[in-house]
Amino acid sequence: MSNTSLVSSIVNHLCQLSLHQNDLPASQLLSEEKRLSRIHEALEQLKYFENAEHIDITIAAHGLISLHTGDINQQPSPTTVATYLRNLFPNTLQIMDKKNADQKVRTMMAPWTYGNAEFLQLEIDTLFKQEWLLAGHISSLKENGSFITFHALGERVIIVKGNDGVIRGFHNVCRHRGSRLARTEQGTFRKSIVCPFHGWTYNLDGSLKNIPAEDSFKKINKQQYGLVSVDMEIWHGFVFFRFSGDGPTVAQQLAPVEAHIAPYRFEEMIPATKMNRETVPVNWKTIHDIDNEGYHVPIGHPGLHDLFGREYYDEKIKGLSCSFGHVQEKLSRNWSVARYQNLLPHFDHLPDNKQRLWFYVGLFPNLVFEAHPDGAEFYMTLPVSTDRTLYISQSFTLPKSNRQSKAAAYLSRRINRQVGFEDASYVGWIQEGLTSSVFPESTLSSIESGVSDFHQQIQKRIPVGSFDTSPSKGSMQAINKILLS
Ligand code: FES
Ligand SMILES: [Fe+2]
Repeated sequence: MSNTSLVSSIVNHLCQLSLHQNDLPASQLLSEEKRLSRIHEALEQLKYFENAEHIDITIAAHGLISLHTGDINQQPSPTTVATYLRNLFPNTLQIMDKKNADQKVRTMMAPWTYGNAEFLQLEIDTLFKQEWLLAGHISSLKENGSFITFHALGERVIIVKGNDGVIRGFHNVCRHRGSRLARTEQGTFRKSIVCPFHGWTYNLDGSLKNIPAEDSFKKINKQQYGLVSVDMEIWHGFVFFRFSGDGPTVAQQLAPVEAHIAPYRFEEMIPATKMNRETVPVNWKTIHDIDNEGYHVPIGHPGLHDLFGREYYDEKIKGLSCSFGHVQEKLSRNWSVARYQNLLPHFDHLPDNKQRLWFYVGLFPNLVFEAHPDGAEFYMTLPVSTDRTLYISQSFTLPKSNRQSKAAAYLSRRINRQVGFEDASYVGWIQEGLTSSVFPESTLSSIESGVSDFHQQIQKRIPVGSFDTSPSKGSMQAINKILLS
């Protein structure tokens, strides 16, 4: 029996026990003592599910059996009993209501999911710690010994190219006392990784090579103290890692857009900008609430709208959120946009239908790739707290581009920078609205279906996200577990 149906049967059982017993056949009559002890037992279980230490079971049991006092011939109705239980165990009963209503999924999650630290922890544990995260691009890992790092979500990771040319990922945490191993965001190790604290030394494949004053440690088996690895995947030159989880690979997830992506040659690209890392004062979801719909483009991004005209649309390709924008010939009044429209050269490596196309694809939960004829870029979000998010982005171009493509790439970055400024305002204003008492919760047009898809994907993984109000403090994990069972 699943936990939820167990809870449900406990409540039904309590309804039966609390009813006046005069009408029951003799075979079903219980002694008062037995009845009370069964009520106690059931209430104890509900208390366990509710995680509610403050409830006194004896008082709760007396309350339950006295619901029919006053008129001994009047039975308390199951509704009265259920209302009584609902007051005592709101979260547990809310779960049952949800299950009974076939676990209704909300179009958009309620505003409480943006400001609740326990919910954020579930998002981190369930989404970020179990999905592929982007660490960088292979262009930063050319030589053996070169490394890049990732530092977010309370974790540190190092991606390093071994002496055998293999790229591996490890926790950037020394096995001795937990110091970070790489001091900088990226760089090159000579032949091994030397911990800056006491000098434990690791080979580039993560194995432990040397411990200074090894004799001073009691019987240490060096083979057991290699760096702790993380799963790795390289997709079109982009380096991904995963802390845990066994879901599909990045390549499998992005297979539906493989034909759209392949011609751009991401794997050959080089950075056009440094990796930009900034912490923004919003919940991570608000950023994707904006980028998951193109309804705001005509008004919210006048320059971008001029670039594409009506030739912009969002499309779901086998579950992936994609957008297509075709650069129109009619020149914009915006300087950067008009220059870009004017000088966009022919790109020999691209088919005709991509010569003037901007293509966007999102990888759930936190990453967006953007491909232009003149280059590519990505941006991703990593939660820091409920109202702070690490926003990381970088632009790339193909090496040996001619002057015209370089100028086009410069202009496309300029256009995107303006779009970024505009979006930052909208994201901030949505964030502000979330704490308002009149925040509109699900007024979405069909053009904004990407927003509800994003919210529903989260609710699928974290079903407690479908609650209208937040469960009481301390109960979130347990409730979510019950819902998943
Ligand atoms: S923490 Fe790394 S050598 Fe001590
Ligand atoms: Fe936008």
